[in-house]
Amino acid sequence: MPATARSAPVPGDVLLVVGDGGHAHEVQELARHHLGYRGVLLVSRDDEAVTLGAHVGPAALGIGYPRIRRLAHEKWASRAELEWPTLRHPSAEVATTSQVGDGCVLTYGSYVSTDSVIGFGVLLNWNCSVGHDTTVGDYCVINPGATVAGHVQLGPGVLVGTGANVLEGRTVGAGAVVGAGAVVTHDVPAGTTVVGVPARPLV
Ligand SMILES: CC(C)(COP(=O)(O)OP(=O)(O)OC[C@H]1O[C@@H](n2cnc3c(N)ncnc32)[C@H](O)[C@@H]1OP(=O)(O)O)[C@@H](O)C(=O)NCCC(=O)NCCS
Repeated sequence: MPATARSAPVPGDVLLVVGDGGHAHEVQELARHHLGYRGVLLVSRDDEAVTLGAHVGPAALGIGYPRIRRLAHEKWASRAELEWPTLRHPSAEVATTSQVGDGCVLTYGSYVSTDSVIGFGVLLNWNCSVGHDTTVGDYCVINPGATVAGHVQLGPGVLVGTGANVLEGRTVGAGAVVGAGAVVTHDVPAGTTVVGVPARPLV
């Protein structure tokens, strides 16, 4: 087994999902129908006083944007009674030599190759892949069908759009956005949005 901490729910657990939009519903589906959670509470990230109540136990990020994932987690990270297990669909594959941090969501068909490190709170959306010897920073989101090749460095908070490709050995800086369908052939500076083939900054 790869080093995915607390990936299995205790039967009967209720999961608190931070978020109430489309991705939160996807996490709800994963938790209830594939991972054995008894119930799921969906909460707006602005809703703490009303809905967190006395919830003790597992929580997950149900938000599709890296920056909002980070802000939502930071808001509640100090609540010691909340745990942030990684939720992994049964069809998601992680090589035995790779590590996945807590608080991640690995959806249907996602794949992590060998000797890679996935940070905290990362979303690997369906059928995306992460190559060997690659680092994916905290709160990154890799959207459906995107391919991140080997020896790539994704800084914290990077979003890789649907169907994009990040070619081998490239670095994508913190908070950068790779547009849907882009092919990253050069390093991307932090905070930059790139689109197209080859990917160029969006001006
Ligand atoms: C790159 C991206 C972040 C830009 O978003 P934005 O800042 O709101 O940009 P806009 O939609 O205003 O588009 C600005 C320009 O960029 C172009 N553009 C936007 N996304 C593009 C893309 N992926 N590839 C090529 N061109 C793109 C638009 O056509 C527009 O060009 P124009 O001014 O000549 O008409 C966004 O389009 C994107 O690709 N996000 C990823 C979405 C994704 O993966 N969703 C999956 C959810 S599961």
